[in-house]
Amino acid sequence: MEVIPLGPGFGAEVRGAGLAEVAASDEVYAAVRAAFEEHSILLFRKQAISDELQVAYSQRFGPLEVAKAASLGEGTPFSILTNIDRATGKLVPADHKEALRARANQLWHTDSTFKSPPALASVLSARVLPPHGGETEFTSMRLAWARLPEAQRNQLAHSFAWHDYAHSRGKIAPQLASERERSTMPPVCWRMCWINPANQRPSLYLASHTYAIEGMGKDEALQLIERLIADATKPEYTYLHRWQAGDVVMWDNRASLHRGRPWPDNLHPRHMVRTTISATDADGVAELRPARAAA
Ligand code: SIN
Repeated sequence: MEVIPLGPGFGAEVRGAGLAEVAASDEVYAAVRAAFEEHSILLFRKQAISDELQVAYSQRFGPLEVAKAASLGEGTPFSILTNIDRATGKLVPADHKEALRARANQLWHTDSTFKSPPALASVLSARVLPPHGGETEFTSMRLAWARLPEAQRNQLAHSFAWHDYAHSRGKIAPQLASERERSTMPPVCWRMCWINPANQRPSLYLASHTYAIEGMGKDEALQLIERLIADATKPEYTYLHRWQAGDVVMWDNRASLHRGRPWPDNLHPRHMVRTTISATDADGVAELRPARAAA
């Protein structure tokens, strides 16, 4: 197996082993798991992807999330990101919920910070790709953490932030998060630094879903969140993944941010399938929990 670096200081393409080998072999899984812990983003090309293979691969890394209430894959392990209307096979209009959700995914985020437990990793497979656009862009929050001044790192290591799905959706359309989504996913609070137990490397932990910081005024907190994300995602720090048929990309939600990029969604279909792996205490969740979590 070869692991070939991809982005500016993070990300790698895995060659010589694919999802099927990981699913079938403890030894290959251990090598890919080590690459994941080290590089945060892994790319596999030319995969003969199926739902079954994606689940078998993803389950190697931990328990799978069940797709959330009111999503296309609700009740299954699959989050379906698509602009194809399942009933008609046609493209959805610009004001359709799935089109608006795609726009929300174009905000810098990491998956499921608004859930408890949060996510360890996501596995995204390309099923239908537009001829141009629709890339996925990544940045390393481990490197973002390392670039912060020491005094700020010391402060953030002991700071706790609140995350809410409705907050990020509200940036696109006020009612995009439905009542059912709001009631099944109340805000959650996590430490702003996630230390990976496999290598003790800390990452800055926040996302478009983050709306408040314990002990800080609302406006000050929102400004700090915005500034930290803007600094972390300067173009020189990002890797833009241009999808090819057969690509599967996996990312470490503890140590990266990502965003989908726009494409002419009124002209071309884009259909992606994501499985999401929940983090466990072995992945460092216990240390994320505040001793006292009051909104
Ligand atoms: C996601 O945000 O999970 C998916 C990003 C994309 O559609 O490229």
